[in-house]
Amino acid sequence: MKMEKLCLGIESTAHTMGCGIVSFSGKILANERAVYTTQTGGMNPSLVKEHHKKNAETVIDKALEKAGVSIKDISLISYAHGPGISPMLLVGRNNAKDLAKKHNITLIGVNHCVAHLTIGNLTTSIKDPVYLYVSGVNTQVIALENKLFRIFGETLDVGLGNALDKFGREAGLGFPAGPKIEQLAKKGKYVELPYTVKGMDVSFAGLVTKTSQLLKQNTPIEDICFSFQETCFAMLAEVSERAIAYTGKKELLLIGGVAANKRLAEMLDIMCKERGVIFKAVPLDYSGDQGTMIAWQGILEYTNGKSIDPDQADIRPYERTDEVPAIWT
Ligand code: ATP
Ligand code: FE2
Repeated sequence: MKMEKLCLGIESTAHTMGCGIVSFSGKILANERAVYTTQTGGMNPSLVKEHHKKNAETVIDKALEKAGVSIKDISLISYAHGPGISPMLLVGRNNAKDLAKKHNITLIGVNHCVAHLTIGNLTTSIKDPVYLYVSGVNTQVIALENKLFRIFGETLDVGLGNALDKFGREAGLGFPAGPKIEQLAKKGKYVELPYTVKGMDVSFAGLVTKTSQLLKQNTPIEDICFSFQETCFAMLAEVSERAIAYTGKKELLLIGGVAANKRLAEMLDIMCKERGVIFKAVPLDYSGDQGTMIAWQGILEYTNGKSIDPDQADIRPYERTDEVPAIWT
């Protein structure tokens, strides 16, 4: 029996060294990762780079083992060329390039943020939604328009994940703080925080300052966590609703690391039900950074004519979502 073509995807843009294996028809065979975490500070690029270098080979081997295949069964290697932090991007690029050269496999570099969007489509069967992309760095409301992802609204300062992590650092919750804040919020009650929406844009800076003041004033941490979530998530529901009205799209898809948050999904679901719009959140395994989304994005672009010469394999630390032509749509 002839096996379906397979792509191996490598993610290393930030905290996660990941490797996923996906078939060209979209079957996910492996999704392995090693995530850099710390109890003390944030992300120190040289420590994270060392973490990724140390774990790359093991993560790739584990993915092959999980999928029950050998590197010789792989038809395409895809790596995240950006956006991200250069020392970490280079670890993924180097591993992908070396494997491609050694085993004579076609290579492709893809955009990490676009991959967050398309793994959402694959795993939820949602076709043409308004995407609410909420991760560490990004908070954006996006939709496809004339084969380009157009950013209708975004944060005017920090991404929500980073805002949560910054508060978490001050409160001694470690990194990443999002999941811990979600747990603490369950026992909290509401205190007023700055709510800042401008059209389809949002701002979290005032909220970060205010929550840090409340922490110093010994406001119970559960109350701060609860109010932080309620306020930010209400802001996100408001701008998503506005984007749905503006674009006329019939679906909302929540993606990115913060999509793991059940309360955020619940609030968006309520808003969508009221408008008769379908709401889905990307499954937990594919919300944060992973190599599976990089593999799938590689397949989408390769089957539409793209690939890269291993000796030209570059990194693009600042490439934006709206710079990538959606040639597969
Ligand atoms: P980007 O995709 O913009 O490059 P990233 O790669 O840093 O950002 P992701 O892995 O997509 O980010 O998301 C990580 C973020 O998700 C962290 O800031 C983390 O605190 C947050 N997060 C994870 N789980 C939860 C949760 N349950 N609730 C809220 N936030 C969460
Ligand atoms: Fe990400």
